[in-house]
Amino acid sequence: MEHSHRVSRGAGTPRASRGARSLARPAVTEPSRSRSSVDDEIESLANARDEAQAALRAAQDAYAEACARRDGRVASRSEDEADVLFNASPYVDVRCEYGYIQSNAGLYIDVSKTRPPGVPRNALTLATENFTRELSAMRAFLSGDNSVPGNGEPVILAASTDVSPEEAELMSELRDQLATLTLSNDAIWAREKARPEVPAPWIIKAPYLALCVFLDLVFPENRPIQRFWFLETVARMPYFSYNTMLTVYELLGWWRRSSELRRVHFAEEWNEYHHLLIHESLGGDAAWRDRFLGFHSALLYYGALNVAWLLSPALAYNFSELIEAHAVDTYAQFAEENKATLRKLPAPRIARKYYEEGDLYLFDEFQTARPRSSRRVRVTTLYDAFCAIRDDEAEHVATMAECQMEDSAMADVRKIDLLTGAALAFIAANAWIDRLAQSAGLDTLEIGGVDVGETLSEDGILVQILRFLPFF
Ligand SMILES: [Fe+2]
Ligand SMILES: [Fe+2]
Repeated sequence: MEHSHRVSRGAGTPRASRGARSLARPAVTEPSRSRSSVDDEIESLANARDEAQAALRAAQDAYAEACARRDGRVASRSEDEADVLFNASPYVDVRCEYGYIQSNAGLYIDVSKTRPPGVPRNALTLATENFTRELSAMRAFLSGDNSVPGNGEPVILAASTDVSPEEAELMSELRDQLATLTLSNDAIWAREKARPEVPAPWIIKAPYLALCVFLDLVFPENRPIQRFWFLETVARMPYFSYNTMLTVYELLGWWRRSSELRRVHFAEEWNEYHHLLIHESLGGDAAWRDRFLGFHSALLYYGALNVAWLLSPALAYNFSELIEAHAVDTYAQFAEENKATLRKLPAPRIARKYYEEGDLYLFDEFQTARPRSSRRVRVTTLYDAFCAIRDDEAEHVATMAECQMEDSAMADVRKIDLLTGAALAFIAANAWIDRLAQSAGLDTLEIGGVDVGETLSEDGILVQILRFLPFF
């Protein structure tokens, strides 16, 4: 869509009515200073502000470095060697991206005041446009053609229009390098078994394990970038859902004590969005099947999380903690397994923008379990980018754990398992007794003088058990 420069009328000062003017401006004489001297003052104040910001940034970097040294995350000799290795790589200056969605929709960092983002058109227009575009990719997928735009054909988005044949060759070689990356499912499970288990009741652990098995089945070991793209499409949904539900609870007048969490959840969602954009820039969204699966799973997941929140916010956070811990294992395994290749490849442009030049206030916001501004990330290679994502996921785990801390029911998940088991046993017994009473033509069933129907009634044992469960 073309955008023209907006020209403001009267430099943003509409003509005020006589009355309004007399209210807005007391009867004082106009400032004697000329406009240019005011402009000079503003400019020098802006310079002073920029210098102060640069000094603050330098102080924060020094602080983060000292924290990293204390925590053993200091730049080691092997990392210096990694810089030498990267600088000798033929891909060191390759500047391109491979995102299919980006090829149609662009990237927000390219939108500036000279090219404003505009306003979305109506839903029908956008839906028709999107469906038309995806339809041809879907047809290609159904006919087994994986070499058309939108279904497997490599998209190369160069930073400049002036690309030499040698540069173009390097760009497609880099893409081939990405296609050689692997991810061992068995090794991810081994990592999960080797670390301390995230405490979770079986009612949460069962769908979590089903989801992990689904991921292993749908994404074979030679498609890690596509798997990550899918995961990150879905991974944003919890934070989007929590903010929706916190807002709804506020609107209904039920709860607003944790309003501040909405800022943390937004920062988490913004972080996950950048993980997604990194995988998109690596070509993770090239296949129609992955886009279809990712977007529809995300919508379903969003709905399911809203329902889970309604039943128990603590359990919804617990589910996210499990997923985030699995993400740490997955990214740690991937970075380790492909270290040699990843260290030769440059970090995507969006990764550098987000980690090094982005809004670090927002970056600090989601890391609630560590002192503010104690983590700063340098991303030169793709290995750095994946390590940064891995560490972000670890911060998400810590934040999700903190979100459950005030729920006393989550203090002992074995009790939840026990009570859930007892409740299920009572429900099964109730169904069986109902059937037995019906077949015997009885209204009530007494065993040993005890009215079974009454035991399972509103004041009975079943309801007492259910009251102890966090989701009732
Ligand atoms: Fe993520
Ligand atoms: Fe995450």
